[in-house]
Amino acid sequence: MKEQLKQIKQKALNDQIPIMSDDSIDYIIANLQKYQCKSILEVGTAVGFSALSFACSITDLKIITIERDRSRYEEAVRNIEMLEFKHRINAVFTDALEFACTEMVDALIIDAAKAQNKTFFDRFFPFVKPRGIVIVDNLDFHGHNENVGLLTDRRNLRQMVNKIRAFEDYINIRKDLEVERVSIGDGMMMIRRIGHSFNFIE
Ligand SMILES: C[S@@+](CC[C@H](N)C(=O)[O-])C[C@H]1O[C@@H](n2cnc3c(N)ncnc32)[C@H](O)[C@@H]1O
Repeated sequence: MKEQLKQIKQKALNDQIPIMSDDSIDYIIANLQKYQCKSILEVGTAVGFSALSFACSITDLKIITIERDRSRYEEAVRNIEMLEFKHRINAVFTDALEFACTEMVDALIIDAAKAQNKTFFDRFFPFVKPRGIVIVDNLDFHGHNENVGLLTDRRNLRQMVNKIRAFEDYINIRKDLEVERVSIGDGMMMIRRIGHSFNFIE
C-alpha cells in the first residue's frame, strides 16, 4: 500500500500536479485522529494522493472529495480503484461551487483554488458537525504571503495573496471560531467552533 502511494506521489510530482507535502498530510492525519473524525469533505482531489493517504492511515474514515479538472479526476478514480478504496472514497467530478453537499461531516479540508478559500468555507462550513474541524492548506502560498510588499509588478499574484490574507482576517475576527495557524507545509490553519468541548485523544 505504502509503495503504491509513493508511486502515485512520484507520478504527481513528475507531472507537476500540486499535492500536499508529507508534513501537511501528517498534520491533518494527526488532527483527524485527535478529533476522532470518521468523515471528511475534501475540496481539491487532484489525483487522489491526499485522500488516499488519509484513508490508508485511518481505517474507518469515509471521504467525499471534489475535483473540477477532468483528467485529474479520472486519474484519481483509477488510483482509488487500484488501492481498492472505492467503498470509502467518493470522488466527485464537479466544480465545488456547484456541489450540493447533503451530509454532515467531521472534517472539511480545503485545498483547491486559493483565492476562493472564503467561498468554499462559507459554502461547506454549515455541513461540518458542531465538534468538527476545518483545515485549510497553502496559506503561505509558496512564501508569497510573507512578501506581498515585493509583488509590485505581479498584479494577479498580489491579488491572490491579498485574497488569502483577507480569508485569514475573516476567520480571525470571528468570535465563534478558534484558530490554530501552523507553519507546516505551505502554511495551514485549523478552525473549530468555540464552546464545543471535546474529549479528544492525546
Ligand atoms: C492542490 S491540488 C489538490 C491536491 C490534493 N489535495 C492532494 O494533496 O493530493 C488543488 C486541486 O483543486 C482543484 N480545484 C481548484 N478549484 C476547484 C473548484 N472550484 N472545484 C473543484 N476542484 C477545484 C484543482 O483542479 C486542483 O487539482
